[in-house]
Amino acid sequence: MGTGVFAFSLIISLLLRCLASQHPNNTDAFFVSDFFRKMKVAPSSAEGSSSRVCSWRGVSCDGQERVVSLVASGFGFSGPIPESTIGKLSELRVLDLSHNNITGLSLDFAEPGSSLRSLNLSWNKITGPLPSNLGNFKLMESLDLSHNWFTREIPSQVGSLSSLVVLNLSRNLLEASIPVAILGCTSLVAIDLSHNRLSGSLPGGFGVAFKNLSTLDLSENEISGKMPDLSGLDSITYLNLSGNLLQELALGVFRDPLQVMDLSRNQFHGLISQVHHSSVSSWSSLVYLDMSMNELTGYFFPGLEDLSSLRHLNLAFNKFSSQEFHLLEMPSSLEYLNLSKANLTGQIPPRISRLLNMKVLDLSRNHITGNIPELSTKNLQGIDLSVNNLTGEIPKSLQQKLPVMENFNFSYNNLTYCGMKFSPETLESSFIGSQSDCPIAVNPDGIGSVDNKHKDLKLGLALALALSLFFLLAGLISLALALRKRTPSWTVKQPSYREEQNISGPFYFQTDSTTWVADVKLATSVPVVIFEKPLLNFTFADLLSATSHFDRGTLLAEGRYGPVYRGFLPGGIHIAMKVLVHGSMVTDQEAAKELERLGQIKHPNLVSLTGYCLAGDQRIAIYDYMENGNLQNLLHDLPLGLQSTEDWTSDTWEQDNAGIQSITTEGMTTWRFRHKIAIGAARALAFLHHGCFPPIVHRDVKASSIYIDSAMESRLADFGLSRIVGNSMEGDMSRGSPGYTPPEFSELENTLATTKTDVYGFGVVLFELITGKKPIGDEYSEDKEITLVHWARDLVRRNEYSRLIDPKIRETGPEKQMEEALRIAYLCTADLPPKRPSMHQIVGLLKDVEPVTIMH
Ligand SMILES: *[C@@H]1O[C@H](CO)[C@@H](O)[C@H](O)[C@H]1NC(C)=O
Ligand SMILES: *[C@@H]1O[C@H](CO)[C@@H](O)[C@H](O)[C@H]1NC(C)=O
Ligand SMILES: *[C@@H]1O[C@H](CO)[C@@H](O)[C@H](O)[C@H]1NC(C)=O
Ligand SMILES: *[C@@H]1O[C@H](CO)[C@@H](O)[C@H](O)[C@H]1NC(C)=O
Ligand SMILES: *[C@@H]1O[C@H](CO)[C@@H](O)[C@H](O)[C@H]1NC(C)=O
Ligand SMILES: *[C@@H]1O[C@H](CO)[C@@H](O)[C@H](O)[C@H]1NC(C)=O
Ligand SMILES: *[C@@H]1O[C@H](CO)[C@@H](O)[C@H](O)[C@H]1NC(C)=O
Ligand SMILES: *[C@@H]1O[C@H](CO)[C@@H](O)[C@H](O)[C@H]1NC(C)=O
Ligand SMILES: *[C@@H]1O[C@H](CO)[C@@H](O)[C@H](O)[C@H]1NC(C)=O
Ligand SMILES: *[C@@H]1O[C@H](CO)[C@@H](O)[C@H](O)[C@H]1NC(C)=O
Ligand SMILES: *[C@@H]1O[C@H](CO)[C@@H](O)[C@H](O)[C@H]1NC(C)=O
Repeated sequence: MGTGVFAFSLIISLLLRCLASQHPNNTDAFFVSDFFRKMKVAPSSAEGSSSRVCSWRGVSCDGQERVVSLVASGFGFSGPIPESTIGKLSELRVLDLSHNNITGLSLDFAEPGSSLRSLNLSWNKITGPLPSNLGNFKLMESLDLSHNWFTREIPSQVGSLSSLVVLNLSRNLLEASIPVAILGCTSLVAIDLSHNRLSGSLPGGFGVAFKNLSTLDLSENEISGKMPDLSGLDSITYLNLSGNLLQELALGVFRDPLQVMDLSRNQFHGLISQVHHSSVSSWSSLVYLDMSMNELTGYFFPGLEDLSSLRHLNLAFNKFSSQEFHLLEMPSSLEYLNLSKANLTGQIPPRISRLLNMKVLDLSRNHITGNIPELSTKNLQGIDLSVNNLTGEIPKSLQQKLPVMENFNFSYNNLTYCGMKFSPETLESSFIGSQSDCPIAVNPDGIGSVDNKHKDLKLGLALALALSLFFLLAGLISLALALRKRTPSWTVKQPSYREEQNISGPFYFQTDSTTWVADVKLATSVPVVIFEKPLLNFTFADLLSATSHFDRGTLLAEGRYGPVYRGFLPGGIHIAMKVLVHGSMVTDQEAAKELERLGQIKHPNLVSLTGYCLAGDQRIAIYDYMENGNLQNLLHDLPLGLQSTEDWTSDTWEQDNAGIQSITTEGMTTWRFRHKIAIGAARALAFLHHGCFPPIVHRDVKASSIYIDSAMESRLADFGLSRIVGNSMEGDMSRGSPGYTPPEFSELENTLATTKTDVYGFGVVLFELITGKKPIGDEYSEDKEITLVHWARDLVRRNEYSRLIDPKIRETGPEKQMEEALRIAYLCTADLPPKRPSMHQIVGLLKDVEPVTIMH
């Protein structure tokens, strides 16, 4: 290898020497070949190994073989330019040695009488001061020395370059102030002195000197003082003063051709409103305006919306007076709007959605309140609304766009979002302090609970809705007719509590275990919301009359949240009312919001919330009445044997046989029915766990939470109430009911309820369904301490299934299926939560043991 390289360089140097020796030592060809030789770079040529220097790549000659142009960008030259080489090319007009590793210039580089018009030494490593003989380049039009390590000041000789059109000294280490002499370069069109250490103030008369100046970039220096008087710069289109120490703003002087104005990161102070409407109207070409990170005060100038070409506006990080966002008008052409830390208050005006081209929107660090309005998300790539006081939900359209956006930040607001599938890292950095909040079913179709029946169901619902609307209308019309006849026929049928009883509160009610107060002044002024029937204006007075003033005779049960009553609303709506006695933890507004959301969670195997009433501190949840009671009644409360439905409905229940579907003991005591109850409850739980985002944990799965509706389907009740009741009950709630509590709760103090808690509860219910025994206190064996789960799991482990199966159902189906179901219950009640299957899996497992339907 080494010898190869050596041989190669030997050949090159021989070749170069040979080439050089062909030329007399005072010709251009000699100077150029000597340059290549001394820089140790082999020339290349289109004509192969031609010896003619003028045919080398990058070299152009005139008719007399004089080199006029040498363009050798990126040829790999390194080190200083040697004396008596290219410095001697007297006819050279264009020299481009950019992108090499040149470290210094030769002394003969800029000799008097130089014909050089364009010099490009950018992207090299030249050190030391700029040559003071620069002034010898009398014909120079383009001087690019950018991206080197030139030090010291800009020599005043630069002023002799009266033909100079482009001056680029950007990205060097130049210091001191810009020399006054530069005003002599009157032909300049572009000046780039950015990224140096230039200081002091700009020479006076800067503006008038450069009539043709189009680009001025002085960014990233230490230039201070008043903003240059740029009033004479009639041709300026690009102005960048960003990153200096300039203080006094003089904006009124700009006019039409100006397209880009970057004044960011200075110390400009004073009122931004000094910009007058008249001057704004002469900024019709302005595309880009950045005044961010200054100390500007006052209110935004009027007429912003008239900047009809403006695409980029950044006024972030200033000291503006607080101003109402909705008073601002923005030009519709905007693509980038940055008003971060601009002291904005009030709400984001909805008309922001008219900014159809918006790509980046930064409104962070203000005092903006209210909701996020709909935005035009078509072109949106970035949004930052962090550190404000925004509330409510992130609009759906925006949520859907986020995954394809480059960046977004909603942190430090009071926002809620729902169903977004981001990594925990993203949620923790872009939604700090936001709440994931959506018990609304996100993907009910994905649960496979009703499978192909789903479409029909939807259709049916739509039809039902249409019909009910029709009947409602018809009802209203006939009501109107009735009223006209002055015979209010329907009110006659109503119980007369309304008239007879006092409808002024507060109202006190008592049950065996609690006393509750509805602190309302006038019962008729407290509305009852029935979701599906918004036009029926029920009030608390209707609940009073429906329950005979919450008479104990209408008490259905005393649940852990409070008493449950039953009654009929006008129109024959049969309801159950759950009084959330512990419900004063959250504000009325929050409770209403939560209840509205709960009302949207619908599944054929759930007892959905029908409506609610906020009566003082009491939140009353209203449900459809479940005619056939719950599984607890069905399995355990019903005495063995052959009683009919009426007997097992507790005798405190109002007798109303008309609406009650009777369950014959026979129908109930079949494997098929028990299986149907189990799979219905499993589907309901699978829906809460996997069909809702975030998942809803029921926390209290037990036989008495599973109701049987009029179609003999099982329906899970009592979900989602813990959020309304608040945290005080949290501990109690997650502890579950005796016999249904998973082992992790007895071991650890602060265990939180998870979906696997529900799975355990379901496992217990499944054992109950198959064994017909209660979770605790039943007769399992001799040992009194033992629970259903212990007993059953032990027998499953020992394969003694037949001892477990309820004798009443044993003959009604294949024992194999019942055994399999016992194994499922065994899995559900595993000691370790991770070992329990998901409700999704359980639905699948239960389907596999589904008894075949026998068609009658
Ligand atoms: C060029 O060659 C002449 C004689 O051949 C010699 O006197 C002179 O010093 C040489 N010049 C250079 C720059 O080599
Ligand atoms: C400059 O030199 C460095 C090493 O010092 C090398 O990596 C780089 O490629 C050289 N650049 C050019 C343009 O020759
Ligand atoms: C100098 O050369 C660089 C790199 O080749 C190029 O980008 C730049 O435009 C040139 N400067 C001028 C003033 O033409
Ligand atoms: C000046 O040179 C720098 C670095 O080469 C380049 O980025 C910049 O665009 C040039 N300025 C102008 C005005 O051409
Ligand atoms: C400005 O540009 C115009 C047209 O390009 C030219 O005629 C005029 O001489 C230039 N002025 C200066 C001072 O170079
Ligand atoms: C102004 O200069 C700064 C620093 O060089 C740069 O970051 C910025 O992009 C420039 N502004 C415009 C509008 O080009
Ligand atoms: C916001 O505006 C108010 C009143 O206009 C002012 O007192 C306050 O200093 C401003 N805040 C900031 C950060 O500039
Ligand atoms: C808005 O402007 C500020 C100040 O210049 C800057 O820090 C921030 O990154 C900008 N935001 C966006 C989204 O560009
Ligand atoms: C939001 O509002 C609260 C209460 O009014 C206030 O303390 C807080 O400073 C506000 N936050 C912002 C970013 O304006
Ligand atoms: C969010 O709202 C609550 C009250 O609703 C308020 O106490 C809190 O300061 C707000 N948070 C922020 C960051 O503004
Ligand atoms: C969002 O803004 C907050 C507050 O400025 C910041 O702490 C957080 O890092 C930002 N997140 C991202 C992803 O930029």
